[in-house]
Formats: sequence, C-alpha cells, structure tokens
Amino acid sequence: MPTRIRVVAPGRVNLIGDHTDHTGGWVLPMAIDLATTIECEILDDDRIVELSSDQAGGVLSLPLPVPDPRRVEPGWGRYVAGVAAELGDAARALRGRVTSTVPVGGGLSSSAALTVATALALDGGAERDVVATAALCQRAEQRAVGVPCGIMDPLASLAGIEGHALLIDTTSVEVTPVALPEAAEVVIVDSGGVRALAGSEYADRRRRCEQAAAVVGDLRRASTDDLSDISDAEVRSAGRHVNGENRRVLAAADALARGDAASVGRLMVESHESLRDLLDVSTPAIDRLVEDLCAQPGVHGARLTGAGFGGWVVALTEPGALSVGRVVRASAGASVSG
Ligand code: GLA
Repeated sequence: MPTRIRVVAPGRVNLIGDHTDHTGGWVLPMAIDLATTIECEILDDDRIVELSSDQAGGVLSLPLPVPDPRRVEPGWGRYVAGVAAELGDAARALRGRVTSTVPVGGGLSSSAALTVATALALDGGAERDVVATAALCQRAEQRAVGVPCGIMDPLASLAGIEGHALLIDTTSVEVTPVALPEAAEVVIVDSGGVRALAGSEYADRRRRCEQAAAVVGDLRRASTDDLSDISDAEVRSAGRHVNGENRRVLAAADALARGDAASVGRLMVESHESLRDLLDVSTPAIDRLVEDLCAQPGVHGARLTGAGFGGWVVALTEPGALSVGRVVRASAGASVSG
C-alpha cells in the first residue's frame, strides 16, 4: 500500500511589526484559519515530485535532484523546487495535489504556506525543529524567486497556536505566545490592490532598513539622536520606522496580554501611519480602506499587514463590528497526518 499523507500549513496575518524582521526586530503575527494543503502519495520507486494546484494553473513535474528552481514552470512550482533544492538528498518523491484557501499575493503569506507545506511533505519525517524548518523555507523562497524575505512568515505558519498571537524576536528567534482577548475579533479586508512582492520595492525597503542599522547599530535600541545622525533622508526615515515599530510591537503584546484591545488598536493605527509616511509601502486604496474601517463603531484599529504595496488590511474589532471582510481565528501551526 502506498503511503498517503496530508499536510496543512496555515497562512498568517501580522497584527503589528512590519519591515522589522530585516534587522532582527520584533513581530507579532498569528497563524490563521486559511491554509494550504498538500495531499499526496509517497513514491518509493521514482525520483520525481508531481503536483497539481487548484488555484494556479499547470501541473508541476519536477525531477529530483531539482534543476535550478528559478527556471521551473509553472511559476508556483518554483517555491516547491526551492524547498526540494534546500532539502537536497533528503527530499522524497511524491505525487499529489495542492489546494489552498490563502489568497495569493495579498500579504497573508500564501508563499510561506506553500513552502512550509512542501517542506513537511518532502521531508521524510526528519526531526527538524520548527526554527530550522522555518529557516529552510526562508532560504527556499529567497533561492526560488529572489525575494529577500525574512523568517516571520514560515515561522508563524509552523509555530501557530490556537487563540494566540506570536511575539517573535527575529534575532534570537524566540517565540512567545500571547493570548488574544476573547472580546476582540481579527478581521481581514481586501484592499483590491494588486501586489508583486517579487518586484524591486520590497528589496529596496529592506536595503533602507539595513543601511539604517549599519549606521546606528541595533535599531531596537537606537535613540532619536542616533537616528538623526543618518544622512540619507530615506534611510533615516526607514530607521525611524523600524525603531518606532519595534517599540509598538512590545507595547501591543503587553496590551494584548492585559486584554486591552483599544490600546492595541491605537498602536495598529500608528504602525500604519509609520509604514505609510516613513517607509512609503502603502497605497491610496489601502489608506482609504484603513480610514473607512477605523471610522466604524467598534473598530479598535486597522493597518496594512505584511510587506504592503497592496493586498489585505487587518483590523481589530469588537465582535461583529464589521460587515465587510472575513473574521480570522488564530490557529495551530502546520501539521502532517495520514
Ligand atoms: C513579507 C516578508 C516578511 C516581512 C514582511 C514585512 O511578508 O516575507 O519576512 O519582511 O514582508 O514585515
């Protein structure tokens, strides 16, 4: 009997702490109840990964060991190929199907959900820990599509805990669960914007943040005076964003733990303004949406989530406050069954 397995890897929404993981900062994401699933059969007598996808077209047929992941077609298969390339000889052959409820390219980590699901499917039960697997997925995405992404997304997908956000220190890679207040809802709303993370904008903002850190050192500890020493205006603004955002993440984690959703909401709005004004990663459609959402009764706050440049917005609300968007629940991390 062939071995059949089912792997489920959730997407994530980041409550606060964006563009902080380029320089080892704090982030506060949660895994959500939208996920990518791989159902497959393990092949003992072949060296191939064959997968179809319900969302993107084409069937992926990938010989092992994989050729250059960046040339693989169809395009979504590059993430799979990146993971297989990182696993090397440990990648096992399989045939199956990918299905997903994570909207693609909207800032909810559809790509990390795919790399994490792939890693758990291809990795024949090797006893890798969560952080090592997340780092492997991060390298796989960088290798496959050339986006210099951080560790937040795969780690959130792997380490998710029901009912909890995850305070992550991306320097020590320590994860601290923070319970979400019962009387608050996390709602995601689509701004309708089109987003291409593979474009140069994300890499450019990462470079600004890194350059700021190169001048002042640890952006979590920098003072206002340190930051004013940065001569380039864009780099200085990026440094200010990252410095303030790190403080906001810690304040938001504290407020969440106290059940103070109103304070978390205010910090989310400040985060949005900083991403818009200091890092220039918002869009007019997102700004309008955030403003409209914040004007509704029962909404504590809203902000862009993830890299920006379009995609979904996250709001923290009283239960039932919004009639638009989708309520998401904090879910457990990726799992393998079968
Ligand atoms: C993307 C990346 C993350 C992080 C966010 C911005 O989601 O994959 O590592 O940099 O953008 O916070």
